[in-house]
Order: sequence, then C-alpha cells, then structure tokens
Amino acid sequence: MSFPIHRARRLRRSEALRGLVRETRLTTAGLIYPLFVCPGNGVRQEVSSMPGVAQQSVDKIVEECREIESLGLPAVILFGLPETKDPRGSSSTSSSGVVQRAIEAIRRAKLNLLVLTDVCLCEYTDHGHCGVIENGEVANDPTVAILADQALSHARAGADIVAPSDMMDGRVAAIRTALDAHKFENVAILSYAAKFCSGFYGPFREAAQSTPQFGDRRSYQMDPANAREALKEVALDLDEGADMVMVKPALPYLDVIRQVRDRFDVPVGAYNVSGEYAMVKAAAQKGWLDEKRVVLEILTGIQRAGASIILTYHAKDVARWLKAC
Ligand code: PBG
Repeated sequence: MSFPIHRARRLRRSEALRGLVRETRLTTAGLIYPLFVCPGNGVRQEVSSMPGVAQQSVDKIVEECREIESLGLPAVILFGLPETKDPRGSSSTSSSGVVQRAIEAIRRAKLNLLVLTDVCLCEYTDHGHCGVIENGEVANDPTVAILADQALSHARAGADIVAPSDMMDGRVAAIRTALDAHKFENVAILSYAAKFCSGFYGPFREAAQSTPQFGDRRSYQMDPANAREALKEVALDLDEGADMVMVKPALPYLDVIRQVRDRFDVPVGAYNVSGEYAMVKAAAQKGWLDEKRVVLEILTGIQRAGASIILTYHAKDVARWLKAC
C-alpha cells in the first residue's frame, strides 16, 4: 500500500505532531563542557580560533563551573596548561598542578557537576607529543607509566572520571590497575578509544598550547581511513577495563559512532572537536549559517548516529537554547 493511503507528511503538520514522533531528543543530560585551566589568578584569556572559549585560572574556572551547573549541564572535562613543561611531561602528575588544583577547587565549591579529566602528556611535554621520546619515537611503555600516575593524581584530587586521550597501547589497563591499587575502584574510565589523527584538532592546539614541535601524531593516533580498526581499538580498551568509549572527532566519523554503538553494549561518547566548533562559529560570525539551527542539527546528528554522550564547546549555548524552548 502506498500513496494516497500513506502520506508521510501527515505526521509533520505541526510542532506537536513532530514532537510526538521525534526519534532523537537532544537534552543537556549527555553533554560535557571542556575547560582549559591555566596558572595565575583572575586570568581569562580568550582563544582566538574558538570564540567563547578561554584559558582560565582556577578561580575563574570555578566561577564558570557555577554557571555551567546553573545551566543544567552535568559535567565538565578539564585540560591543563601547566606552569612548566619538560621532555617527560612531569608536571602532569603533580598534586599541585593546574588541573589537580582546579578539581579540588570545584569540589570545594560543592557543585553538582561531574568532573572529568583529560589524561595525556601533550600539554605537558616541551616537544608537544603525547608521550616521551626515545630514539626519535614516541615510546609507548614508559609513557603508559606516567599516564597511570597522572590519572591517579586526578583521582586523588577528586576526579569522577578520567579520560585518556593519548592513544598509547595498554594505557587503560595500567590506569585501571593504578586506580584500583589505591582504592579508587569507583573512578570510571572514559577512553578516547577511537581517536583519529585529525586536522580538526587545530584550534585546540592553540587553546592547549600543545602543537607538536616536530613531526605529527600519525604513529599513535588512528588513520582516518580505518573504521574496522576503530572497532578493534574499542574492543581492546573495553577488555582493559574502560567503562565508556569515545569516538573523536565526531562529524567525519558518524559511521564509526554507529558501528561502535551497534557492536558494543557500553555508553558511547563522541567529541565534537575544536575544528568542528570553529567552522560553525566562523561561518555564523560571517552570517553564512544560522548558528543555533546548525548546532542543534549537528548534535542531533551525532546523537542519532549513536553517541549518548557528547563533548562539545557548544554545550552552554545548547543548554540556553533548550531552556528557552
Ligand atoms: C590530546 C587531546 C587533543 C584533543 C583532546 N585531547 C588534541 C590532540 O590530540 O592533538 C582535541 C580536542 C579538540 O580538538 O577539541 N590531549
């Protein structure tokens, strides 16, 4: 049976009808807002390629967290711009590091917010790679040991969830072991399991001051052409003890998000990364796109593809727009 018995337009006639049959409902419950913590006091330095996003000192971060909580967002993820960098990213494990202090300050403020941390070395190494360098290469196993220390220091400061983004092999197992050995068995791991080597991280590297000083990240981040390998990465991280997995970036990898969703029964996240954000912001500033409309469409698309958790710089705007609806 088809037309004229079936008329697909019947269910599109009013907002009430469209709302009734809507398959994907975007809410704030799955959104995570990224924050960049820098040294100092009273510092708020806008990131030029990411309008609305800033590097901020701990006091300002807490202020922003109050706003984030009041908007009904459930979580933030912290990135650190440390006071000092060295070849081994030593400052990443310090209990008095910027991220560790920010976690403690957010905890002290008693906010109803989940605190996630990005676990990686690239913001802390003077060469900007995500691991330590040996014989001209990023050395896997020595890096994993430092990452485990870093995750532990975040847990000690009060993080709820640690999110390793380095793409070293075996880091999830090492982090799980370190956390459990110190009675942090309830700290969860959200693994950046399928992280692709992407041009879309450009603005983030300005925000996090983490551009590699030589070479690129192709020897550890994934080849954008590989979806089957992404499933393998996810399976390995789950075997090692990841509680949730993430695909990153989001928009060029919606097929990967869908396959991970279909294949594995764990919460799936996606990172709507800095370059994806910057493109929308730039076009909107020029008047070429309707920002609210495209952002809601993009996030709905990412969720429809299978991601129930979305890390996005648009989170605060989205929360405001959804409130106004
Ligand atoms: C690495 C890390 C990166 C991002 C999150 N964690 C950058 C990279 O791998 O180069 C990118 C996030 C974004 O672009 O918004 N610690």
